[in-house]
Amino acid sequence: MPTRNKTDDSKTLILGITGCIAAYKSPDIARGFMKLGYKVVPVLTKAATQFITPLTMQSICGGKAITSLFDLKNDNQFSHLSLSSQASAVLIAPATANILSKLANGTADDALSTLVLASKAPLFIAPAMNEKMYQNRKTQKNIDSLKKENAVFIGPQIGSLACGEEGVGRLAKVSLIVNSVEEALSDKYDFAGKKILVTAGGTREAIDPVRFIGNRSSGKMGYACAIELKNRGARVKLISANCSLSNPEGVEVINVETSKQMLEQVKANFSWAQAVIMSAAVSDFSPKKVLKEKIKKGKDLSVNLQKTPDILGELAKVKGNKILIGFAAESQDLISNAAKKLKDKKLDLIFANDITKKDSGFSSAYSELTCISPVGTEAIGRKLKEEAAAIVADKLKELFDSKILF
Ligand SMILES: Cc1cc2nc3c(=O)[nH]c(=O)nc-3n(C[C@H](O)[C@H](O)[C@H](O)COP(=O)(O)O)c2cc1C
Repeated sequence: MPTRNKTDDSKTLILGITGCIAAYKSPDIARGFMKLGYKVVPVLTKAATQFITPLTMQSICGGKAITSLFDLKNDNQFSHLSLSSQASAVLIAPATANILSKLANGTADDALSTLVLASKAPLFIAPAMNEKMYQNRKTQKNIDSLKKENAVFIGPQIGSLACGEEGVGRLAKVSLIVNSVEEALSDKYDFAGKKILVTAGGTREAIDPVRFIGNRSSGKMGYACAIELKNRGARVKLISANCSLSNPEGVEVINVETSKQMLEQVKANFSWAQAVIMSAAVSDFSPKKVLKEKIKKGKDLSVNLQKTPDILGELAKVKGNKILIGFAAESQDLISNAAKKLKDKKLDLIFANDITKKDSGFSSAYSELTCISPVGTEAIGRKLKEEAAAIVADKLKELFDSKILF
C-alpha cells in the first residue's frame, strides 16, 4: 500500500488526463500533489485510457478514477456540478490539442470537458503534442482564447517528442507543473486547510405562535465573510439565523431561529473550528413565557423579558487557542462599548459597526466598521460588505500567521 500524506478536502485537485503518450507521467503528477496534502480526483478521457489505466490512477489517488460522465451519477445525479464546485483547481496534464479545442469552444461531451465547463475553479493546462499540432494556427487560436479566459498554461517545453521529432510540444517537467499550480494556489487560497465557523443573521424569540422579538440584521455581513473565506480556500460552516439569502456554494449552512438554537449549534461546532466569526445579531432578551395561542387584539400588553444565553461569554470560557472575532452594532459610545465587549468576551478582534450612519449597517449593502484589538483601533470606514469581508479575512489571516492570540 502506498503511504499517503494527510489530505484535506479543502485542497481538492481535479486532474484531467487526455490521450497522449505523456499520460504515463500522470501518476507522478498526482503523487506530487498528494505529497503537498491535496486530494486528487483523476478524470480520464476515453483516449487517455488507451495510455494509462483508470486502475493505476485510482490505486495511486485512493479514490475512484472518473472515465465517464455517467460514472458520477451513482452519488448524485448532478454530481458533475458538485464535484466541480468542490475543486480548488482543475489541472489538465497532459492536455491534447483536442481538449484545447473542446474547452476553447465550450464543448461538454465527456466527463472532463463537462466538469471544466461547470467549474469556477482556476484552470491549469499542461499541453503535450507534436510540434506541428502545437504550432497549428487553430491550436494557437484555442490557446489564446483559453488564456483570455484566465486559463494558466504550463509549458509545453522544447525537447525530444514522443513521435521521435525534436521541437516544442513536450510536456513540462512534473516538478514545474506541481510547483506552478501550488504557487498560484497558495497566493489565491491563503486559508487552505483552515476551518472557520461564521454566524450570521438575527435571532428571533417567540412571544406567541405569530409574533417574535427580532432585529433588523439581514445576515449580509456574515454571508459575505463566509463566501470570502470559502473563496480563499477555507472550509466554512455558516450558522444562519433567519436570513433570506441564498446558500453560498461550497459552504455548509446550518439554519437556526432562536438564540438558544444558535448557542447549541455554536457549541456543537466549536471544537471543529479553528476560528469563529460571530457576526449574527443575537437577541439580548427573550419573553419569559411563550404563549401557546395568538394574543388577541385588545388592551395594552406588557411582556416580561429575560436575558438570553451569552454565547460569546460561553465561548470565552473554553476559548483555548481558537481565534474569536466579534461584531458590535452600536448606536452610542461605539468604541468604548465595543472595546469593553472585546475585553469581557476575550475576543481577539472586534468590528464595531456604527448603525447610526445613513445607508450602512443592518440590511444595507454597506458597513462602517472600526477594527478594535487589544493593542489598538483602526477605522476601516464605509465599505461594501463584500469589501469589508475581505478586510475581516485579512485581519483573521494576520492572526493565524502571527499566532498571537489575545
Ligand atoms: C500513439 C498516439 C499518441 C498520441 N499523442 C498525442 C499527443 O501527445 N498529443 C495530442 O494532442 N494528441 C495525441 N494523440 C491523438 C489523441 O489521442 C486524439 O486526438 C484523441 O482524440 C484525443 O482525445 P482526448 O482529447 O479526448 O483525450 C495521440 C494518438 C496516438 C494514437
